[in-house]
Amino acid sequence: MKNLTFENGDRMPIIGLGTWKSEPGQVKQAVYWAIESGYRHLDCAAVYQNEKEVGEGIAQAINEGLVKREELFVTSKLWNNSHKYEDVKPALEKTLSDLGLDYLDLYLIHWPISFKRGIGFAKTRDEFYTYLDVPLTQTWEGMQHLKTLGLAKHIGVSNFNQAKLREVMNIGGQKPEMNQVEMHPYLPQKALVQFCRENGILMTAYSPLGSPDSRNESHKNDPVLLNDPVIELIAKKHGASIGQVLIAWSVARDIAVIPKSTNQARIKENLAAAKLKLDQNDLMELDDIGVEFRFINGKFFTGPESPYKLSDLFE
Ligand code: A2P
Repeated sequence: MKNLTFENGDRMPIIGLGTWKSEPGQVKQAVYWAIESGYRHLDCAAVYQNEKEVGEGIAQAINEGLVKREELFVTSKLWNNSHKYEDVKPALEKTLSDLGLDYLDLYLIHWPISFKRGIGFAKTRDEFYTYLDVPLTQTWEGMQHLKTLGLAKHIGVSNFNQAKLREVMNIGGQKPEMNQVEMHPYLPQKALVQFCRENGILMTAYSPLGSPDSRNESHKNDPVLLNDPVIELIAKKHGASIGQVLIAWSVARDIAVIPKSTNQARIKENLAAAKLKLDQNDLMELDDIGVEFRFINGKFFTGPESPYKLSDLFE
C-alpha cells in the first residue's frame, strides 16, 4: 500500500476507512473488520457522533493483538463550535477520551465556519460567530499548540480553499500539513491540488464514491458517480468494481482517500483497490469525463441566517 509522507518522515497509508454516517451499532464492527482486513488508517470526526464506538472497535483490535496503536493512523476533526483558542484543546481531549487514545496522528479543523460554544448546528444568526469574532488564525494557533503538546502528531484543515489556506499560513509557525476536501472525477479540484502541492500540503479526498448515502429528496437530481458509464467501462476492462476505480484514481494522484463502508465485503473491496493500477488511457478518460458536480455543497452552512458565503468554503 502506498503511503503519503509528512515532512518529518511520518507516513499515512493512502487508503483509510471513512466513518461519516457509519451508524452506531455498526461502526465498531466496521472498524474491527477494517483493521482485520488490513486497514491502518481511520478517518473520524467529533461531529459524526460515533467516536466512542469507533474507539471500541480500535480497542478490540488492539486487545486481540491484531494491531498496535503505533501501527494505526487515526485522524479526527475539530467541530465548528470549538474554534475559540481556549476551546480547541478541550475538544481534542473529548475526542481522545471517546476514541480511547492518548494522541491523534492527525487533527483537522473540520470547516472554516464557526458556531458558538455548545451549538451543534447553527441555524439562527445569533448561533454563529463571524470571522471578526473568531478569526481562523486564532483556531490555527490552538491547533499549533496541540502539536507542540504532542496530543496531535500532525495538524491540518478540511474544506479550506486557497484563500483560507493562505490566511492561516500567513501567521507563520506550522503550516497546515493536510487539506481534506471532497474529490472525485466529477470534482478533481485541480487548482487546489496544484496549490497544495506547491506549498507542501498533503491532501485527502472525502466522498470519493460521490456520497451515495447523502441522496435524499433534495438531492434526487444529483448525478450518481457510481453509475457513470465511462467509469463502468474502465472497471470492466480491469475486472474491478466502479468503487475500486474511484479509489484507484485518487491513489494514482497521490491523494489519500477515505471511502466509508460498514459492509464487510465492501470494506475489503475498497482496500483491494490499492492493487488496481489505472493506465494513462484510463486517467485521460477520467480527466475528460465531462461532468462537474459537488455533492457536499455547503448550503447547510450558508443559508439566509448565516454570516458565511459559499466563497468562504470553495474556490
Ligand atoms: P455501505 O456502508 O453500505 O458500504 P462515500 O465514501 O463517497 O461517502 O460513500 C459511502 C457510501 O458508499 C456508503 O453508502 C457506502 O455504503 C457505499 N459504498 C462503500 N463502498 C462501496 C463500494 N465499493 N461500492 C458501492 N458502494 C459503496
